[in-house]
Amino acid sequence: MAFGGLVALDGVSLALAPGRITGIIGPNGAGKSTLFSVLAGTLRPDSGRVRLGADDITSLSVHRRARRGVARTFQLARELDSLTVLENLLLATPDHPGERLWPLVFARGRVRRAERDATDRAMGLLERARLQRLANSPAGALSGGQKKLLELCRALMADPDIVLLDEPAAGVNPVLVESLGQFILDLRDEGKTFALVEHNMDLIAALSDHVVVLAQGATLAEGSFAAVTGDARVRAAYLGAEFGDTESGDVAA
Ligand SMILES: Nc1ncnc2c1ncn2[C@@H]1O[C@H](COP(=O)(O)OP(=O)(O)OP(=O)(O)O)[C@@H](O)[C@H]1O
Ligand SMILES: [Mg+2]
Repeated sequence: MAFGGLVALDGVSLALAPGRITGIIGPNGAGKSTLFSVLAGTLRPDSGRVRLGADDITSLSVHRRARRGVARTFQLARELDSLTVLENLLLATPDHPGERLWPLVFARGRVRRAERDATDRAMGLLERARLQRLANSPAGALSGGQKKLLELCRALMADPDIVLLDEPAAGVNPVLVESLGQFILDLRDEGKTFALVEHNMDLIAALSDHVVVLAQGATLAEGSFAAVTGDARVRAAYLGAEFGDTESGDVAA
């Protein structure tokens, strides 16, 4: 995947094991977020393939991939500040019947039922993320960490099978990071598949079943957390920086 002359992904190859958490680490600019855009369908790669099971989904739109169970969160949370927390989640409901005219006219009951189901689902997620008491607050009033949790809940509204998490813990205080980590582990134990991009190495170590290291747009190493962080090539790629000590890995109090 190139942007003009800049090759952001070049020969990256990885597989996400079903029902597992694959940690994806690498220095700033390694191509992690670009990889997620290619997997989720916001970027079309210049070459290479994205496969879901046996199917080649490289040419499917974001929307069609979402329907097939692929969801992602963004490095910067994308909530709408003036809407409430609950409204932000309801907006993320896939194929909301109220979006189409015919059901509104002829099937009001069905629309109301779907709305009730979506609200139940949203409240259930907010409860699990411990945000339920903020359901009716404007999203703009949330802390940075709470916004990241809301971003995760938004991605979960469609009940995806595969969730791509781009730095879910960046800027999140340590207490919230712990409950976020437990939430993700619980979801994995319920069968969801995760790719987790993080600079917080404690979280990568605690959550990852498998770790892939990206550097300069290519897979540099993969294996257990201990194996990859002990790899001299991986250490060199970080140019001697302490793991977890990179800029966006700082944990705000
Ligand atoms: N839309 C874009 N247009 C041009 N260049 C881009 C674009 N998106 C990313 N890049 C460049 O591609 C490279 C990879 O960026 P990417 O955001 O994927 O890195 P990253 O691994 O997510 O980094 P970080 O850890 O800082 O989030 C960088 O050099 C970046 O500047
Ligand atoms: Mg990134």
